[in-house]
Amino acid sequence: MPKSSPMVHEARLLGILDTAADGIIVINAKADILVFNKACEAMFGYAASDVLGKNISLLMPSDFSVDHDRYVSHYLETGERRIIGIGREVRGKHADGTVFPLELSVGEAQTPDGRQFIGVIRDVRSRKAVEQRLNQLQAQLVNMARVQAIDEMGAAIAHELNQPLTAVMLYLQAVIRKTSSDTASQLAPQTLEILNKALREAERAGGIIQRMRHSVERREPERQACDLNALIDEALELVLLGHDIEGLQIVRDLDAMLTHVHVDPIPIQQVLANLLRNAMEAVRKSDRRMIKIQSMVSGGQAIVNIEDSGPGIPPDGLSNLFKAFATTKKSGLGLGLMISRSIAQNHGGDLTVDGGGDGRGATFSLRLPLIVGSHEQGIADQ
Ligand SMILES: Nc1ncnc2c1ncn2[C@@H]1O[C@H](COP(=O)(O)OP(=O)(O)OP(=O)(O)O)[C@@H](O)[C@H]1O
Ligand SMILES: [Mg+2]
Repeated sequence: MPKSSPMVHEARLLGILDTAADGIIVINAKADILVFNKACEAMFGYAASDVLGKNISLLMPSDFSVDHDRYVSHYLETGERRIIGIGREVRGKHADGTVFPLELSVGEAQTPDGRQFIGVIRDVRSRKAVEQRLNQLQAQLVNMARVQAIDEMGAAIAHELNQPLTAVMLYLQAVIRKTSSDTASQLAPQTLEILNKALREAERAGGIIQRMRHSVERREPERQACDLNALIDEALELVLLGHDIEGLQIVRDLDAMLTHVHVDPIPIQQVLANLLRNAMEAVRKSDRRMIKIQSMVSGGQAIVNIEDSGPGIPPDGLSNLFKAFATTKKSGLGLGLMISRSIAQNHGGDLTVDGGGDGRGATFSLRLPLIVGSHEQGIADQ
């Protein structure tokens, strides 16, 4: 083979760099751009000819370019590295002025032309968009759980307050009746007026409580035909997000028939997420970490079983499990199962548990009716 000249070498090298999926930029010690490959052109919206010989700060938002200059001179003086050979996420500036996140790793080379730095750049915009969407969904779910919890607590408080309040009203009524019929125990008119006011206020409080109870009880689920398996997968994705899933085995055994179940998708997804989160938390300390999710049709119902390889639930824990504030966790509210059961029952279904034991973890079963009304069709009709 004939020996090729340095020029040919360089052209060949640039050709190779242009085929790389990652952006590649080479700069000299003054931070002037020497190489700008095709991937960079697409990422930054500049042609190589526009940027070659110009300072790298052209490609950075202004606040970052000041830091960068300081960093380069600091490195050249002291040799202390903050990015070289390490790589980190920084921000880039597109030709149209938009700023976007990118992953940058920098290497250094001593060349006959002096010290040069080579940067490999990956556009992380799409990854960021997915992360953002998942964070958004997760925040929505947490928020919904809170709203639901407040409703449930409102209903529980209303229920608890109703009895003493009724007693207060009855006592007041008894005193008023007695003083008006029995001359011996007659009260001064002013005192009687105060008692009447107290009775009216107690009745008003009773009315408020009644309205609170009704508004929670009346809320009908907004049903639509949903793919229950897709809801399971979405809930799973949300729950796994940001957790250590190494060594965690997820077994999905989903019935393909369950594509048109008439449910309100958001609260049902919340139930699934609550159950999956509990299962994740239950297996955290187990040697074998497994969660099995099974969906099926049985007896005119859609059934979702979520089984885990955790420690199970001791028999004495089962009776309080679905009650508010029953928790064994440091940061738990003990509301997840209570809310989940009430959502299931609101749909005409139920949530039950087999506590396991003897080496078996807990299995929660969510049941939802397939046919919800004469005018709506479940998959049992198909
Ligand atoms: N899969 C499971 N395995 C073992 N114990 C469980 C499981 N699921 C729930 N539990 C027990 O039931 C309790 C109540 O669960 P619940 O989801 O209602 O509340 P929590 O998880 O403690 O708090 P949060 O309100 O944040 O969900 C838990 O604290 C835990 O002790
Ligand atoms: Mg929970």
